[in-house]
Amino acid sequence: MRILYLNPGAQMGGAEASLLELLAGIRDSEPEWHLSLLLGADGPFTAKATSLGVSVHVLPMPAAFARAGDSRTRNPVGLLLALVAAISYGRRLAHVIRDLSPDLIHATGFKMHVLSPWVRPPGIPLIWHIHDYVQSRPFSSRLLRWHSRGCSRAIVNSRSVAADLRSATRQKAEIVYNAVDLQRFSPHGPALNLDALSGLAPADGILRVGLVATFAHWKGHHTFLKALSLLPPDAPVRGYIIGGPIYQTAGSQLSLEGLRSEVRRFGLANSVGFTGFVDDTAAAMRALDIVVHASTSPEPFGMVIVEAMACGKAVIASQGGGATEIFTDGVDAIGHCPADALDLSNALKRLLSDSGLRLRLGSAGRRTAESQFDRPRLAREVSQLYRESSNDLCVTPTMAVAARN
Ligand code: GLC
Repeated sequence: MRILYLNPGAQMGGAEASLLELLAGIRDSEPEWHLSLLLGADGPFTAKATSLGVSVHVLPMPAAFARAGDSRTRNPVGLLLALVAAISYGRRLAHVIRDLSPDLIHATGFKMHVLSPWVRPPGIPLIWHIHDYVQSRPFSSRLLRWHSRGCSRAIVNSRSVAADLRSATRQKAEIVYNAVDLQRFSPHGPALNLDALSGLAPADGILRVGLVATFAHWKGHHTFLKALSLLPPDAPVRGYIIGGPIYQTAGSQLSLEGLRSEVRRFGLANSVGFTGFVDDTAAAMRALDIVVHASTSPEPFGMVIVEAMACGKAVIASQGGGATEIFTDGVDAIGHCPADALDLSNALKRLLSDSGLRLRLGSAGRRTAESQFDRPRLAREVSQLYRESSNDLCVTPTMAVAARN
C-alpha cells in the first residue's frame, strides 16, 4: 500500500508529534508499505520524518493561504486573497499527488482537510485526522461540513473531539488516542540544564516546575505565572516556560516580550526562566520535578500530559476536554480547574511539599503511558482503519497489481 500523508506545517506542534509517532508505528508494523509525506512548509518536521525512512516532499503554501485563519475572515480582501492562493496551491498539490499515485491519503490539519477532497485522485480512500475542536471556529466548521462528504473516514484524538465534530458537522469519527515514544519519553536519559538555557543563575536545593507548551493563547501561560506568584515568596521553587512561538496563522499566539513583562510585574524575574523552543522536550521534562499543563480552554488531547507521565514525572493537568480522558485525577496526575490560578497554585503547594506523592504519581503515570499510549497500539488501530477504508471503496490499480503477484 502506498500511503500519502498531508500536513500543512513543519513546526513540531502536538499534531506533528502525533503524526511522527504514527509514521514510526506504521513503518515498524507494515514495513512493506511505502510512506510519503507532503508538507505545506519546510521545518524541523521534515528531517524527523525523513530519518524514519518516509519520503518527504515540501510544497510551500503561499503566505496568503498559510496565514489564513478564522480570526481573519472579517477582512473580505484577505479572504479573497486566501481563496485565490488556495486554488492555485490546490492545482499544484493535485499535480504532485498524481505523480506520487498513492493508494490512500491521510490528511491532518484543517487546510489539508479542506483541500484534500479536491485533490485526491478518484477512487482512493481519504482519511481525515482531526486533532482540534472545530465548533468554536464557525468559518472552519462550515467549510469542514461542506467538504466532509469527500472524506471516507475521520479519525479524532478523543471522545471530546468526536462529540464536537459531530455537533459542528454531523460527521461521525473513529476515536484513536495518540501514542508517545516510550523510549524517548522515559525517566532515564540526559536532562537539560534549564537554568543555563534560560539565563538564570545556577541554583541548588530548589524544585523545578515547568510549563511545556507552544505559545498559543489558550495554553495557560498567564495562569501558570499567576499560580507561581501565589506561592509563598520564600518557596524554594523555580518556574520555567519551555517552548516558543511556532505558528504562522496571524493573531494566534502570545509574544515572548509580553510574557517577560508579566513576569516582571509579578516580581518573578529571578525565579522564572524562558528556555525558548526546545527540541528535546524529554530532556527538558527530566530536568523538572513537576510538569504543568495549564490550558485554559478544553484541550483536545494533550500530548504533553502523556509525554510527562511517560517520563515518570508528577504532572498537574488542566481538567477539560479530551485531557480528562487520559489521566485519573489523584492517581497518575493531579487535575486542576482550567484557568483557575488559585487552584493550580494549591495543587503546586501540595506537590511541592510531598516528595512521596510526586514519586507515586510519576510511577503510576509511566505505567499508564506504557499500557495505553504505546506506538504499536496506535499503528494497529490506524492500519486497521486503512484496510477497512480500502475495502469499503474499491481496489486501486497498485493494489490490484500486488494482488495479482
Ligand atoms: C492538537 C491538539 C492537542 C493534541 C494534539 C495531538 O495540537 O490541540 O490537544 O494533543 O493535537 O493530537
